[in-house]
Amino acid sequence: MVGFRCHGCGAKVDAGLDLAFRCPNADGNDVDHVLVFDSEAPSPSIGSETDPFLRYRQWLSPYRLAREAGLPDTAWIDLVGELDEALIAVDGRGFRVTPMADRRPLAEALGLAGSLFVKDETGNVSGSHKARHLMGVMLYLRVLETAGLPAGENIRSRRLAIASCGNAALAAAVVARAANWPLDVFIPPDADASVKARLGDLGAQITICDRRPGETGDPCYLRVREAVAAGAIPFGVQGTDNGLAIEGGRTLAFEMAEEFHRIGTVPDALFVQVGGGALASALAQGLALARANGLLPKLPKLIAVQTEGCAPLARAWERLDGIDLATAAKTRSKFMWPWETTPSSLAHGILDDETYDWWAIAEGMRASGGSTVVVDEAQVAAAHRAGRTHTDIVASATGTAGLAGVIAKPEAGKQIAVIFSGVER
Ligand SMILES: Cc1ncc(COP(=O)(O)O)c(C=O)c1O
Repeated sequence: MVGFRCHGCGAKVDAGLDLAFRCPNADGNDVDHVLVFDSEAPSPSIGSETDPFLRYRQWLSPYRLAREAGLPDTAWIDLVGELDEALIAVDGRGFRVTPMADRRPLAEALGLAGSLFVKDETGNVSGSHKARHLMGVMLYLRVLETAGLPAGENIRSRRLAIASCGNAALAAAVVARAANWPLDVFIPPDADASVKARLGDLGAQITICDRRPGETGDPCYLRVREAVAAGAIPFGVQGTDNGLAIEGGRTLAFEMAEEFHRIGTVPDALFVQVGGGALASALAQGLALARANGLLPKLPKLIAVQTEGCAPLARAWERLDGIDLATAAKTRSKFMWPWETTPSSLAHGILDDETYDWWAIAEGMRASGGSTVVVDEAQVAAAHRAGRTHTDIVASATGTAGLAGVIAKPEAGKQIAVIFSGVER
């Protein structure tokens, strides 16, 4: 069986029988419920392809599911290939291993003596790393359909749903369009007009979510939960609602680990900007797997970067001091709750009021000797400017926010890695 396990309550889900999205026990208690892939392949190999969903297919649960259901390797290659052609038609590009380089001029401008590796996701599908998460989910859906598995019964009659008005929504709309799968996007009234226009062009159905009288919490998120309760498929990037979304993001870690292996170095620290936490959680899991499979001799310290306007993970990290993580997973509300004030930042993509995927990031920080770092707006702006001035990468301030962490904490290591995760729009 291709199994998922809830890291909070231990519930098991067979991904062929039931959708491996939200933990079946998720509602109504203080446990941190997130489904994680529980049947990693023993010694997965790396292919020679440049599409990460082919190259690392043996590392991915939908591929394992396809093979277990009796589909041949060529069926996976066809599924990925068809989506790739469609992505190129919709967005002008498919998934390819993205570039990573030691950016000397940038390091020098920031006064860093050692290497500064920048992984550039700005040219990825839809302009950010987010589409990796959603491609993982889409491949799972396509495998369920193609293999005729019980979890996929009538799946085509169910629409996809996401609450987002930024990179995640755009990524969802591109991947959904490529798969010809209808998508509902729930956005706030003040969403950016150009994002709305692009979502419309991509055929997404937009619902504007006003706050209802007496309602607390994010209205877009509340509406998406209602849509999912009525049968929609959660197509967002929060592990709590769709644990499988984390998995596709691990391809980013595999690419970085493979490159570090090739050049024979491991950076001392990897700084990652954290909003909802799917990105850092995927990196933590992916790097741990890469290490377990011999690609990395050690883990870089995972350093989670948040802004002073909104730092729920940094708050949780302080409270976790001396506490066993298994215990923490059973008492979520002691560590994670919505940020009380409405924040603003140039790095507006990391202002999620909760770090939904906090637990796996904490695990990754513990395992690697990492920590959180909270940056101020001057550091966010300085990182954005430095990225634009000293590299040819056109990254947004959210995209360079990991670098703001390097500016705040340069003593974290001699060799440093960051991800420029999204393009300036
Ligand atoms: C470009 C970019 N980088 C990083 C993040 C943060 O990712 P996560 O919400 O998974 O922590 C976001 C989230 O919107 C983003 O758009």
